[in-house]
Amino acid sequence: MPGNSFGQLFRITTFGESHGAAVGVVVDGCPPGLKLSERDIQPELDRRKPGQSKITTPRKEEDTIHILSGVFEGKTTGTPILLIAYNKDAKPSDYETMKDIYRPSHGDYTYDIKYGIRDWRGSGRASARETLARVAAGAIAKKYLFEKFGTECLSYVEQVGTIKSNISIDKVTKAAIDKSIVRCPDKTTADKMIRLIEKVKNENDSIGGVIKGFIKSPPPGLGEPVFDKLPADLGKAMLSINAVKGFEFGSGFDGVTMRGSEHNDGFELDKNNKIKMSTNNAGGTLAGITTGENIYYRVAFKPVATISKPQKTVTRLAKHATLSAAGRHDPCVLPRAVPIVDAMAAIVLMDHYLRHKAQNL
Ligand SMILES: Cc1cc2nc3c(=O)[nH]c(=O)nc-3n(C[C@H](O)[C@H](O)[C@H](O)COP(=O)(O)O)c2cc1C
Repeated sequence: MPGNSFGQLFRITTFGESHGAAVGVVVDGCPPGLKLSERDIQPELDRRKPGQSKITTPRKEEDTIHILSGVFEGKTTGTPILLIAYNKDAKPSDYETMKDIYRPSHGDYTYDIKYGIRDWRGSGRASARETLARVAAGAIAKKYLFEKFGTECLSYVEQVGTIKSNISIDKVTKAAIDKSIVRCPDKTTADKMIRLIEKVKNENDSIGGVIKGFIKSPPPGLGEPVFDKLPADLGKAMLSINAVKGFEFGSGFDGVTMRGSEHNDGFELDKNNKIKMSTNNAGGTLAGITTGENIYYRVAFKPVATISKPQKTVTRLAKHATLSAAGRHDPCVLPRAVPIVDAMAAIVLMDHYLRHKAQNL
């Protein structure tokens, strides 16, 4: 199967290219009866759109979303929902000079060897413009999960280069995340991150970092052992985002230095005799199934490929070349990737909720 669809019962299929006519998504399997309008989706897209601050790409797109099907009299009908945003500020001419040159660390070379034909305008489908579609679909899943269970999928920029925030998750709110242009809710660290991104941008370079994601109050019992464990599907979702190079779940790599006696999350009873955990090193799942405790994970992004600093490379015709990339690019994609991470988490959870319901009648 080609790889343009994700999810089983809440299934999304994205389409469109960076500098083509439009980008969009078909969302199939959304339960009927959910109140839905463009106003529920647009705020998430505004968090992802280009040109939103001095530290993102200057490309100017409004990313206005249109619902073309699947909603009647303000409610979902249970039929496929088509969401589309038309590209307005496409400038294919920026890419003319790179048409035959392979950008180091981008998809130009591999798209050529795989398909033999490549839409070179703004990287075509390898561009993160495709993630607009995921964010639009994710907004539906987020709304459903929040209204039904009070579940919230949130994430923030924890690290840029070597600058890292140690803020505790309990103190993180969506308002605090969005208050900062770098989407780090810890102001002192956020200011340092912004200064670093500006420095890197002035040096015609790029820089990576880490997004910390968490899902507050997920429903218990979600996850399909043995291959579709919740963390396994979350890992796939995150690693499918452009420029992601690492995924860590729960205590992740830090757990390797701990003893079992330290790492084990004890069970206890609350005052209503309800079973709960005394700690959460597991990250909210056991054996791939949600416990109901908060889920948390980390996603590592590389410094992105397209930089105007000169780099040695080769052409399609196997000639040496030097590339100083033109076009409008993000010096650090993390602030714009936060809503993408949230959306993918919500899509995974929504899909697993429907799968759980399908078996547990
Ligand atoms: C929000 C976001 C914006 C991005 N913007 C750029 C960009 O301006 N320039 C660039 O070279 N890569 C950008 N990327 C990353 C590329 O799309 C990605 O590196 C490329 O498709 C190669 O895939 P890989 O890095 O996953 O191997 C962006 C990624 C994200 C998540």
